[in-house]
Amino acid sequence: MKLFLLVVMGFFAGAAWAADRADVLIADFEAKDYGQWKAEGEAFGPGPAQGTLPGQMPVTGYLGKGLVNSFFKGDDTTGKLTSPSLAIERKYINFLIGGGKNAEKSCINLLIDGKTVRTATGPNDRSGGSEELDWATWDVAEFAGKIAVIEIVDQAKGGWGHINIDHIVQSDQKKEASIVSDELYNETYRPQFHFSPRKNWTNDPNGLVYYQGEYHLFFQHNPFGIDWGNMTWGHAISPDLVHWKQLGNAIDPDKLGTIFSGSAVVDWNNTAGFQKGDEKTLVAIYTAAGGTSEQSKGQPFTQCIAYSTDAGKTWTKYEKNPVLQHIVGGNRDPKVVWYEPDKKWIMALYKDGSTFAFFSSADLKNWTHLHDIDVPGCGECPDFFQMPMDGGQKTKWVWTAANGQYLIGSFDGKRFTPDTKLQRADWGKNYYAVQTYSDTPDGRRIQIAWMNGGRYPKMPFNQQMSFPCEMKLRTTPQGLRIYRSPVKEIELLRAKELKWSNVTVKTGENPLAGVSGELLDIQAEIELGDASGFSFNTRGEIISYSAAEKKVTCLGASAPLEPVGKTIKLQILVDRSSIEVFGNDGEIAMTSCFLAKPGNKDLALTSTGGTIRVVSMQVYELKSAWR
Ligand code: FRU
Repeated sequence: MKLFLLVVMGFFAGAAWAADRADVLIADFEAKDYGQWKAEGEAFGPGPAQGTLPGQMPVTGYLGKGLVNSFFKGDDTTGKLTSPSLAIERKYINFLIGGGKNAEKSCINLLIDGKTVRTATGPNDRSGGSEELDWATWDVAEFAGKIAVIEIVDQAKGGWGHINIDHIVQSDQKKEASIVSDELYNETYRPQFHFSPRKNWTNDPNGLVYYQGEYHLFFQHNPFGIDWGNMTWGHAISPDLVHWKQLGNAIDPDKLGTIFSGSAVVDWNNTAGFQKGDEKTLVAIYTAAGGTSEQSKGQPFTQCIAYSTDAGKTWTKYEKNPVLQHIVGGNRDPKVVWYEPDKKWIMALYKDGSTFAFFSSADLKNWTHLHDIDVPGCGECPDFFQMPMDGGQKTKWVWTAANGQYLIGSFDGKRFTPDTKLQRADWGKNYYAVQTYSDTPDGRRIQIAWMNGGRYPKMPFNQQMSFPCEMKLRTTPQGLRIYRSPVKEIELLRAKELKWSNVTVKTGENPLAGVSGELLDIQAEIELGDASGFSFNTRGEIISYSAAEKKVTCLGASAPLEPVGKTIKLQILVDRSSIEVFGNDGEIAMTSCFLAKPGNKDLALTSTGGTIRVVSMQVYELKSAWR
């Protein structure tokens, strides 16, 4: 009998869960006042807010007209809002939440017997300049039948010192946050032909090295969070600089520090003595950022090495690390390059302020200081390499800083002597921590930057790399300059191709009418004629050229560009969250982030104040590199 009853009860309980009972509304905050909820302090005002409060960024995503918004009289007011007692009757409690990310300070809590059993905070700025509420869910099945209280707390002052809540409901259905993510690598703002980590934060590209058919891209990575922290070398490989496969992390934090930026080389001559068998050793030279973790408390910033004897698959830290002791402040970001005449390694290192140093070593383990350079306006992540002039036999040495700015000069194994002034490398808004590949099979000098400063609302990843570019050293009337253009491998992604030549475009005409695309490589040579300029519209963003100002403008940044003869050449790469513009075969480059509106795939080319002639134009629609 007992057994029978239990079975029947179990059946009913199961059936009831499965049948999804109707939702039980806890509060929708649509009334003028808080009703039976008790408000303490000032932050929650006299009753639910009717949307955005004075001085607040636009509040969106709530249901109906009212919501809890503790921005009453600004961020500094505090208070608490407590619900009447309620019985837990469903599997989940769903609610809309926005506002500050301050655990225990601006949050919503579920209390049972006076103890907090569930808590949630807002995300701070979730969607780039707006305060959007989104669904959150507590699984409360284990508390079925218990009496609970919900409290909404605002004890936070200053930036994001408030919380927004709406529509608290008990339900048998979980409400998924509307993260714009249908499938991995296909999320709304996921770069489709730029590298971004599967999940979480990245910043600088690290250890760019080619070996045995694989381009390695290590990257500053926070494996545990969407923001900067826990610096670790993430790792991805590619056969072609376009299709990337993310592997397990390569170098993890230890008691010397978290793992900051650095470089990697192939130790062809086994100078460090790590080689096993015939496989050449890859050596990574990185900064152990002492004091940036609990584990490394009290340690300074030093330079360390790790090596791989299996072509980059696994990495071992050198047991006698560090190989270069602390010199000053946050000294970091070692870039190592082979100097053939002396059969020595050369390291460029950032010291502090605007000072950088050079060191040499025969074995990657013992380093001798050569000299320092001071480069006002520059800091972090130096790069140092040799390049042929105009593709010929003569070479020059190039030094770059994190911002890509560069010096060209000579190097005799002991001293780098610049013979140009500092030159600008990019005119866009999101180009930093540049590094070039070591050991490329064809001698190309290939650079990748972190597109710092981009925003990726609701994405599972944060930040992306620029598209790899080939650099060339060219003689110009102004002296030697670096030209930078997307690597030719971009052709591997071409899906559709449209071509034009010798087309005149009068004011009001658009040769691209009817053409649309999401991922694009546009290449055009345009004769200015009597027009005062022209502009491309790609997915709602304008890339314009002004003949009077001799300037290209895109996403709020401008670059100087003189016509060659009478024409201007542009190459424009458009991805879901970036636009890169290259002028006159890489004379100027502009690397910028943006957020493409998913539905907007428009394209246009228009002239202003006269008629232009499209000498030639190709529009390539690109495939995603992830599928
Ligand atoms: C540059 C930088 C480097 C440092 C790394 C830490 O963006 O600040 O100097 O090594 O990022 O993530």
